[in-house]
Amino acid sequence: MAEKEEAGVETSEAEIAVHWQEEGLVYPSVKFIAQANMTDESIYDRFSLENFPNCFKEYADMLTWYKYWDEILDTSDAPCYKWFKGGLINASYNCVDRHLAKYKNKTAIHFVPELENEKTEHVTYQELYVRVNEFAAILQNECGLKAGDRVTLHLPMVAELPITMLACARLGVIHSQVFGGFSARACADRIVDSGSEYLITMDAYYRAGQIQDHKEKADIAFEAAAKDGQQVKKILVWQRYPGKYSSKTPMVEGRDFFVNDLLKKYYGARIDPVPMPAEAPLFLMYTSGTTGKPKGAQHSTGGYLAYVTGTSKYVQDIHPEDVYWCMADIGWITGHSYIVYGPLALAASTVVYEGVPTYPDAGRSWRIAQDLDVNIFHTAPTAIRALRKLGPDEPKKYNYHFKHMTTVGEPIEPEVWKWYYKEVGKGEAIIVDTWWQTENGGFLCSTLPALKPMKPGSAGPGMPGIHPIVYDNDGIVIPAGAGKAGNICIQNPWPGMFQTIWGDRDRFVKTYFERYCKDPKSKRWQDWPYLTGDAAVVAQDGYVRILGRIDDVINVSGHRLGTKEIESAALTHPDVAEAAVVPVKHEIKGVEPDLYIALKPGKEASAEVAKAISQCIVKEIGAIARPRKVWIVPDMPKTRSGKIMRRVLGAISNHTDVGDVMTLANPEIVEAILQMNKESGV
Ligand code: WTA
Repeated sequence: MAEKEEAGVETSEAEIAVHWQEEGLVYPSVKFIAQANMTDESIYDRFSLENFPNCFKEYADMLTWYKYWDEILDTSDAPCYKWFKGGLINASYNCVDRHLAKYKNKTAIHFVPELENEKTEHVTYQELYVRVNEFAAILQNECGLKAGDRVTLHLPMVAELPITMLACARLGVIHSQVFGGFSARACADRIVDSGSEYLITMDAYYRAGQIQDHKEKADIAFEAAAKDGQQVKKILVWQRYPGKYSSKTPMVEGRDFFVNDLLKKYYGARIDPVPMPAEAPLFLMYTSGTTGKPKGAQHSTGGYLAYVTGTSKYVQDIHPEDVYWCMADIGWITGHSYIVYGPLALAASTVVYEGVPTYPDAGRSWRIAQDLDVNIFHTAPTAIRALRKLGPDEPKKYNYHFKHMTTVGEPIEPEVWKWYYKEVGKGEAIIVDTWWQTENGGFLCSTLPALKPMKPGSAGPGMPGIHPIVYDNDGIVIPAGAGKAGNICIQNPWPGMFQTIWGDRDRFVKTYFERYCKDPKSKRWQDWPYLTGDAAVVAQDGYVRILGRIDDVINVSGHRLGTKEIESAALTHPDVAEAAVVPVKHEIKGVEPDLYIALKPGKEASAEVAKAISQCIVKEIGAIARPRKVWIVPDMPKTRSGKIMRRVLGAISNHTDVGDVMTLANPEIVEAILQMNKESGV
């Protein structure tokens, strides 16, 4: 009985997901197929389970190695795997140096400032090489950084971000970029967890037409990290306008340094790339999990780079002559894999856009596409919904032609897919719906664009070499075509998969493998299916449709936020006794958090308190987590065992049926909250 009660306690996104019907197939054009990188059907056989793990040599061979590996996959420490063991490689070399002979005068990065009257910066491969070397010289000589050290980056969307990442990679220094929009507190937590002694930031950047004082956050993060035991030695500050300081926050003598001042000493410096073991960590990417503390997904050098390069080539269809624009922020995994490492490993020209896609108007994105002659476009449903809402007829006003478009981050509604296809892609561009996660390094499910038709709303089959399997709660396999949703897992490891959670192997095993592990002592990968935490349905044809998360994580605008993280942020307000977060459907963001609060006895509810609680969340996590509404309720609806019934709160927020609440400890409270909701008119 207790179990049944618990099963109904949480509102998962899957529960509120719309149930779509099967959609018709859409085929790629002959024109697209004729130029595509991957047109060979036999790839699926080459990457079958029988040919695992050797099939992944095909991706590794797209890279330049100092030394080939001795063993393709070492499972002796399962489920912590070592790919390409014994191999030596450098990521910076692969993304920069090796392209110089052929492409030194070609643009590597187009940096587009948000203000339209500012000039786009075109960084050639040669210039990228120079800037990466000079900055690596600073890291080495001014900070004494060496292979294996961690550095926290808190940078906005500027060319200096990939330059900083590649400079770290050149030395084997592990970078940990914190999304620029995250708060100082979030930055401090990541500095502490990763043990970073250096913080690299920028003075300011533009967002929605306003200059943001970003250096301010570095000062607060420095103090907060020190309090929590991690002393940052130096803060390196890039300037948004070189030579000019655009922040009001004073520089601290002896601690803060302008990169542009230090650079004067290192003009012309060249730093040899350090040959790194394939399994050495390349970077950490923090992500939300089911408990409060963010997890540092640790990604490897050789396996990760091989996987993002292979998938960029076959799924993104990147050729060196393409102009590729992924609108994500580099602070998320999509940006690491598919703005920086994948495209640059293939010598593409990649666009880095500073600002919001709809600034100053809904035509901005299409002007950028037109001006730079972008032909591969990559974005998320939340941006597509925003662009569709604000300017449904804008794309046709501009003269650009995409051959290829991607969607990533959350399920895309078929209606939105069709607008994307018809209006943005002008009926010419193929779409790939790529399903994957921070932990995965690269795509798990997607169509290969020249080989498989598109199905609006479905991500497509497992990628070559990725073998999904769906289990029900009892571990019974739900076969394709059964029409039932279950917990989607991946049967086998793959090179892009994270190696562990930084510093917490137990949590890694517990979170991702414990549930369906066949034998916890096993050293065979076959016994360790990887739990993605998503609910999915697999159609007869193998296409996977993702319904949403099964754990306490909500996906706002394609970004994972832990409900526990938001709730703990609310609890930093002294008046708050209990907090519960539920996802509410939102036209553009997909979902947004609604926050329910019970105050401590004797505390008065007021609009000011609600606002102050909301501010706590912005301060602790960032504006992205700001609740739609803070509901101060007399009490939380609870089960008899005292668990908050998030399912009921979720139903109220989403105006759906609250179901049977008679088994609750306090059913009358549901009526009171419903009444409150009605009166508010939202
Ligand atoms: C969701 C982003 C449906 C999913 C790369 C996953 C998607 C979470 C898709 C990971 C998609 C991502 N269709 N759902 N194409 N892509 N998701 O770690 O719930 O920020 O588990 O990685 O986003 O989010 P993360």
